[in-house]
Amino acid sequence: MSKLSIRDLDLADKRLFVRVDFNVPLTEDGSTITDDTRIRATLPTLRYALERNASLVLASHLGRPKGKPNPKYSLRPVEARLRELLAAEMGRNVPVFFASDCIGDPASRAAAALPPGQVLLLENLRFHAEEEANDPGFSQQLASLAQVYVNDAFGSAHRAHASTEGITHFLQPAAAGLLMEKELTYLGKALESPEKPFVAIIGGSKISGKIDVIDNLLDKVDTLVIVGGMAYTFQRALGVTTGKSLVEEDKIEVAREALAKAQAKGVQLLLPVDNVLADSFSPDANTQPWDSSINFPADWQGLDIGPKTIEKISAIVAQARTILWNGPAGVFEFPRFAVGTNAIARAIAANTAATSIIGGGDSVSAVNQAGVADKMTHISTGGGASLEFLEGKKLPGVEALTEK
Ligand code: 3PG
Repeated sequence: MSKLSIRDLDLADKRLFVRVDFNVPLTEDGSTITDDTRIRATLPTLRYALERNASLVLASHLGRPKGKPNPKYSLRPVEARLRELLAAEMGRNVPVFFASDCIGDPASRAAAALPPGQVLLLENLRFHAEEEANDPGFSQQLASLAQVYVNDAFGSAHRAHASTEGITHFLQPAAAGLLMEKELTYLGKALESPEKPFVAIIGGSKISGKIDVIDNLLDKVDTLVIVGGMAYTFQRALGVTTGKSLVEEDKIEVAREALAKAQAKGVQLLLPVDNVLADSFSPDANTQPWDSSINFPADWQGLDIGPKTIEKISAIVAQARTILWNGPAGVFEFPRFAVGTNAIARAIAANTAATSIIGGGDSVSAVNQAGVADKMTHISTGGGASLEFLEGKKLPGVEALTEK
């Protein structure tokens, strides 16, 4: 990595502004965290800095409160969970304070009074519209809270906001945290120097959000497997009708272009050869297996891949040395249509010789659901950020960091 890392810095007695991505899912009322993966993922960075006697000012957004304070999006529940997780990580209690605003008196007084080895969590950055507007004055106020900037928020690195980009104009050095570094290393290696064969499995309901990912991956992979709802648009591009399956009519041409590009590049593009059709979009619909090369019955829709497709994907995955997976193979929220997604998760887990990278979003829930998360080489904490990275785009939060 060409960017400065937290490991390059002398942290002793320094106050660090650490941008983290604590944008975690909460219950409807905002009181309870339902998945703390993103908090856990930052613990190595926090531990690393605390062990070197730094004091940490942590800042994050949570949800989309539209520039105004809103108790539903308060980081208070994160404060409590962070205290617990940090104590477990460090084997002792670490003081964690909370500032009711990320700028102004509450933040600057608490930051100035923060002794080495202690933590201050700031209230939601997005309670100020200036955060998303990347306002220089706001960036400067954030910068005034510390002496060193560390960005560990890979999940927010595709946003050019005050706390991810603007702040670096006022606070240097600006270094990557350990999570940021890990994400860039694994995702970067997959795109730049993957061990071959390199297999990418792209799924999910729609092509629209993943056109550029597919296009970029076709320049890199040996095999591209397309599954999930988006596969029906590809099937239509091949001239097969797909009944009531999800199809983006305006993307059939895009699918055709991807098929042509794969052929021109000598990339194997694998589409489902069979599907599980359902007579309604419901967890207890009637089902039937169907050969994907035959027109679907008009009233039926595909909700999962079939057993022959699972077999083909498993065989391809077993031979791979780099595997990248983003997006489920079916409606995996309904247990009867999670068979394909779970099988892919298990096939990837079984190939212990390969580097396996799970590219954020729904596929992360899928590997958790299949109980094989610990068998993956890297599970990205970025949803939108990992997609933009896989598209080959530069991420503003990474670009803004100091060169080594
Ligand atoms: C995410 O969850 O993808 C990141 O935290 C970014 O959130 P945002 O899409 O609201 O900017």
